[in-house]
Amino acid sequence: MKGALENIRVTAREQLAAANDLARLEELRVSLLGKKGELTAILKQMGKLSAEERPVIGQLANQVRAEIEQELADRMAELKDAAMNAKLEEERIDVTMPGFKSMIGKTHPISLVLDEMKDIFIGMGFSIVAGPEVELDEYNFEKLNLPKDHPARDTQDTFYITNNILLRTQTSPVQVRTMEKQAPPIRIISPGRVFRSDAVDATHSPLFHQMEGLVVDKGVTMADLKGTLELFVKKLYGEDSVVRFRPHHFPFTEPSAELDVMCFNCHGKGCRLCKGEGWIEILGCGMVHPKVLRGCGIDPDVYSGFAFGMGVERIVMRKYNIDDLRLLFENDLRFLDQF
Ligand code: DAH
Repeated sequence: MKGALENIRVTAREQLAAANDLARLEELRVSLLGKKGELTAILKQMGKLSAEERPVIGQLANQVRAEIEQELADRMAELKDAAMNAKLEEERIDVTMPGFKSMIGKTHPISLVLDEMKDIFIGMGFSIVAGPEVELDEYNFEKLNLPKDHPARDTQDTFYITNNILLRTQTSPVQVRTMEKQAPPIRIISPGRVFRSDAVDATHSPLFHQMEGLVVDKGVTMADLKGTLELFVKKLYGEDSVVRFRPHHFPFTEPSAELDVMCFNCHGKGCRLCKGEGWIEILGCGMVHPKVLRGCGIDPDVYSGFAFGMGVERIVMRKYNIDDLRLLFENDLRFLDQF
């Protein structure tokens, strides 16, 4: 029995040294130390031994078990170490290799200007509302005092989806939607996309952006309109900007006006930028027509309001000196990267 134990001790050592992976080690652990293992088999025969032999063999058996356990643990640590080293070697990173430059996105110039415009109005206590781009004729025209046969409809080349569903040609329908939902006081702006069936060229695009504004309360006057919009222009273009209000006509405002800012390039003399006018048109505006108020359930004898609407692209183009509208929509990264 002593011989058998010695034998186990020697072969175990050899087998463990030869084991090259963790699976093989586990196999050996089971065959050497497990319940059906060689050592256990020997210990089971201890009963047959004499009283003198039993403690001697018992001690030897325990010693062999302890040795094998230790060797197993050592070999396991060695293999794990080797595996880790191999992995580190394989995943080695050459930190001296040149890196890849990752492209960082930028805010589109239209968004830059829109953000600036929104900030100015938020500073004056306006809130931002949105309206649908697919709109009903009723909101885009009818309730803005543009009945079916109104000639002004022809100036807005409308994309119709059905007889009474269309892509909004202006952000003005948001005025109506807001007044129908909300009782005065109202002080909102509504930036968004609008659509007109125009052929693409340097100054036209079938999709462009507008920003609408609406204020309705008791005692709102033309003076409020002028003060608000003059302040807006001065914040956008600088304190020394000069503005003028020029009478105009819009069906949904009465009286109506267009706001011009004195050309920053020639200061009113007339140049290429302002097409010889000396002034550049920025927006349309006016006092909300009593018919429009009434149609939205607001009593024009109690409340009054003003509204305004402006094209965003033109402001962007002037701000960044861009002479072709198409650049804003083609999204050539070489162009966008400049902002
Ligand atoms: N919706 C008009 C357009 O697209 C612009 C406009 C003019 C909006 C006067 C207004 C306004 O709110 O009062 O040409």
